[in-house]
Amino acid sequence: MGLTIGVDIGGTKILAGVVDETGAILDRVKIPTPRDSAQTAAAIAQAAQSVRKDYPVEAIGLGAAGFISADRATVLVAPNMSWHDEPLKARIEALIDLPVVVENDANAAAWGEARFGAGAGRPNVVLYTVGTGVGGGIVLNGDLFRGHFGIGAEFGHYRVVPDGRPCGCGQKGCLEQYASGSALTRYVKENAKSDPERAQIVLALGDGTPEGIVGAHITEAARKGDPVALEAFAQIGHWLGQSMADLASILDPEVFVVAGGVSDAGEILTAPTRERYHVALAGTGDRPFAQVVTATLGPDAGLIGAADLARLR
Ligand code: BGC
Ligand code: NA
Ligand code: ZN
Repeated sequence: MGLTIGVDIGGTKILAGVVDETGAILDRVKIPTPRDSAQTAAAIAQAAQSVRKDYPVEAIGLGAAGFISADRATVLVAPNMSWHDEPLKARIEALIDLPVVVENDANAAAWGEARFGAGAGRPNVVLYTVGTGVGGGIVLNGDLFRGHFGIGAEFGHYRVVPDGRPCGCGQKGCLEQYASGSALTRYVKENAKSDPERAQIVLALGDGTPEGIVGAHITEAARKGDPVALEAFAQIGHWLGQSMADLASILDPEVFVVAGGVSDAGEILTAPTRERYHVALAGTGDRPFAQVVTATLGPDAGLIGAADLARLR
């Protein structure tokens, strides 16, 4: 089978692309995610149509930031988006005359990286996406793990702080409240408010106020040595590394891949993550460490993985 479209639907942006069987993107588009679910479906369809043009596309794979039903048709709930019991497959099929496969965005990214990226040639890959939320994906013995109801590998909603910060999933203390891009921004804004002097570099990249700071500023500031930005990366890296140590006790993968918008920071994020993973691992020093690496497909992992899953449907 030839070309498919992959679409990655996140809390802030939608990425769509035409992808071939080697994982190469032939054409692409990026648009902001609308607020309500009807507009989101229309935006997805529009993005897909705009990249489709003259390509003989055979199917569409959607990677959506939420809990996806086992039949890969419905978004049961999306902690950071407007979806509730959303019949996403039917909605998009009504707008475009192509078969649609819906997958969790992080599962799609894990599949993309396992096939064509940092996990290529490796059967046991665990992936974290760090963006608006924290997502998880598991490729085990070469297969994508979905769980019985389709909603396994939700690392972001593993409870790390009893009675901690409230989460969009309805619970408290979930990993995503401490290790996401949203948490990164929150840490930096808080510190820029309490100690603007120390946060000079990151403040200067925005409009000068803590409210004006966005994720991209934090990565750039960290590269320039801003202590507040670096501390924020160290914090989320700490939580991620600890979570990897816990997961290694269950899954024992060969490699942990860090994907999602925040992984643009590369080693600024993976170094503190790896450090904490090594310290927190049970039996540390007397057992092999899994590698901790940045996604090689970068922000395209989900799109490429979703397209490949549509091809293999
Ligand atoms: C959602 C996941 C999603 C992740 C990353 C989490 O809040 O529960 O389904 O994969 O965010 O987008
Ligand atoms: Na997942
Ligand atoms: Zn949660």
